[in-house]
Amino acid sequence: MRIEGLVIQDFRNYAWAAVEFARPVTALVGRNGQGKTNLLEALYVASTLQSFRSARTEDVVRRGAEGFFVRARLGGPAGERTATVQGGAGGLTATLDGRCLRGSGELRSLVPAVVFSPEDLILAGSGSEPRRRYLDRLAALTQRASHADDLRRARRVTEQRNRLLARRATDALEVWDQQLAVTYARIAARRQQAAAAVAARLHDTYARLGGPGVVGCAYRPAFGGEPEPDPGAREEQILKALARRRSQEIRAAMSLVVPQRDEVVLDLDGRPVPQQASRGEARLLALALRGVELELTRGAAGEPPLLLLDDVLSELDGIRVGRVLDFIQGGDQVVLTALETAALGELGAGATVYRVEDGWLGPDVGRPKVDAPRSL
Ligand SMILES: Nc1ncnc2c1ncn2[C@@H]1O[C@H](COP(=O)(O)OP(=O)(O)O)[C@@H](O)[C@H]1O
Ligand SMILES: [Mg+2]
Repeated sequence: MRIEGLVIQDFRNYAWAAVEFARPVTALVGRNGQGKTNLLEALYVASTLQSFRSARTEDVVRRGAEGFFVRARLGGPAGERTATVQGGAGGLTATLDGRCLRGSGELRSLVPAVVFSPEDLILAGSGSEPRRRYLDRLAALTQRASHADDLRRARRVTEQRNRLLARRATDALEVWDQQLAVTYARIAARRQQAAAAVAARLHDTYARLGGPGVVGCAYRPAFGGEPEPDPGAREEQILKALARRRSQEIRAAMSLVVPQRDEVVLDLDGRPVPQQASRGEARLLALALRGVELELTRGAAGEPPLLLLDDVLSELDGIRVGRVLDFIQGGDQVVLTALETAALGELGAGATVYRVEDGWLGPDVGRPKVDAPRSL
């Protein structure tokens, strides 16, 4: 479905704002630091119950406020629906047509959002954490609830093991190892599958963007080697790795064979990307990873995606901008940001353009002297 209207309150630098998305393309223009990315973030929260900038959703609460509120009006051939998300230090609650939602699954499949942002450069950096999260997003496209549950379970087991390791209470580790092996085996299988789906598409997508060289992507679980295809054999493989690295874990006083230490390796011409790629190549690679995410999201969801393009036009030269636009298909909803209306290029022609100024948003003619009356 399309997000046709959005109301936000106490969200980042917005005390209150209401936006209509009447056309397929909406552009937010304004100087830096005014709230353009914040608005994309609100759209993303409405679709995924997560921020794409902070791990903790409460970071989006406007400074000094208790909690944020987002309401999205969704439209599509099947009619209208209303989603709300509110949250703060106490957690997050979401509703769809007034009914409380347990997870993000239903919203994500109604409005599958994909963000392209300059911060995506981190996907091509030396730390694996952003790439693990990227793979987990893809894994969750098809097995959302179970993957999120397993990741939570793995984190809990890791905390328990770390506590025991810190106290050198190693006799008690065994029961946790069993639990870890079962959960980890499932996580590894889904990550492996997601990495294979990325590997099958990444090079072509990168090349289409004009990236030079041959890129690859591989999943390297912390238990070593390739995950065994059979679930039982995979659990055995993990238990063996735990036994093999037991003394190392005791010395380090922390868990080493856990999903949080899996690596996702990108290589360019056979060498690790952080060493090999120039900044420009890394940027194209990050863009290509999002392009692959978009393609896989399109395939998994029955709904056209919501594309959030943050400063993408100003990041790349003209030719490559043209290729980013190739990612967009008819039926997609696009919301993009730019410093200037002129920078919108061909996307500007059919777009609704809003100006963003210090937590205010309105028609692209400037801010009125007095704020319009507010109502929710
Ligand atoms: N939780 C918050 N409360 C209030 N203001 C915030 C919060 N988080 C970020 N901001 C403000 O939002 C502004 C940046 O908005 P952003 O959307 O990133 O700008 P841009 O228009 O450049 O994309 C900054 O002024 C920052 O101080
Ligand atoms: Mg920004």
